Amino acid sequence: MESLIERLRDAQALAKLVGDAPTFLNAIRHLPDVAKSEASVLITGETGTGKELAARAIHYLSPRAGSPFVPVHCGSLPDTLLESELFGHERGAFTDARTQRHGLIVQAEKGTLFLDEVEAMTLKAQVALLRVLQDKRFRALGSSREQQADIRVVAATNAPLEQLVQAGTFRADLYYRLCVFSVHLPPLRERKGDIMALTTHFLKKNAPAGRTALQLAPEAREALQAYDWPGNVRELESAIIRGIHLSRTSLIEVKDLGIPSAIESRQNLPVTIVSTEECSFKVMKQRMIETFEREYLHRLMHEHQGNVSQAALAAGKERRDLGKLLKKYQIDPNQFRLPDKPYPI
Ligand SMILES: Nc1ncnc2c1ncn2[C@@H]1O[C@H](COP(=O)(O)OP(=O)(O)O)[C@@H](O)[C@H]1O
Ligand SMILES: [Mg+2]
Repeated sequence: MESLIERLRDAQALAKLVGDAPTFLNAIRHLPDVAKSEASVLITGETGTGKELAARAIHYLSPRAGSPFVPVHCGSLPDTLLESELFGHERGAFTDARTQRHGLIVQAEKGTLFLDEVEAMTLKAQVALLRVLQDKRFRALGSSREQQADIRVVAATNAPLEQLVQAGTFRADLYYRLCVFSVHLPPLRERKGDIMALTTHFLKKNAPAGRTALQLAPEAREALQAYDWPGNVRELESAIIRGIHLSRTSLIEVKDLGIPSAIESRQNLPVTIVSTEECSFKVMKQRMIETFEREYLHRLMHEHQGNVSQAALAAGKERRDLGKLLKKYQIDPNQFRLPDKPYPI
């Protein structure tokens, strides 16, 4: 019988999951066994920690590997669209439904449906999903006919789902259905030993033909190790892509990576009180609050890569209130978006 390590290596190779750090191996060690089961899986972890990649590993290791893996990004679709995307609709089910359409559940038949940002589902869609999980049945929008669904569901979230259950915005019964198995992926700052292996992987993956001899300057290596990576592996990949495209020679230097330096991070430390003579308690308190708010917002937007809805959820604020605060401090969420493509040279 294959050892656990061998099976884990297979899983890693299949999904190109790079990493050897104990926290990471510990997180993914059950993937081969989880894959064999038909039960749902909930993958948790900060943004960019590799949740979608882990979901793919589960699919490709499962008996369903020959059928489709269908990802659904629940957060990027408006409420009503999400339901019609998932369940499909009959002709005339709503104003724009001119033709009948199959949903993603039908596309994922015999395969795996990956529900990313599952916390963004409306309560109505949650009820319908629960139905699919419990009875393997669903109904397209505007249809009276029930259909069978043979799918396996893997869900992912970076929201504190248990807290959302307590707050009543996520159904407890669905939560327990989803997390028969749970996999928690550690943030990159808790697996810094993997930074260099990941860097080598991303250099190979992204280097244009003819530029395969790329190297990192010693300071650039140090900077990669020292940084905290709030955007995790995705942010690291973006930095490497920038490095590849901005370096003029085969040596990638710190400045090419475009990551905040350790000095800048240190400047972000909260202000300390040097003297109380300068101004009143009230004025000083106000200043401290403003400093805190500005820094908190910067950090929050950085961690959520400029996604205001996601940031609001994580901070426990209404989206509108967070928007007002950002305006007050003239912070533009767009500046925190990671580039999909390398910066133009
Ligand atoms: N362990 C890993 N090895 C190789 N690439 C990884 C790893 N983890 C994440 N990535 C890459 O980082 C990016 C973000 O991963 P993704 O699975 O989309 O994260 P999440 O779904 O948690 O936001 C993707 O390009 C993915 O291929
Ligand atoms: Mg993702």
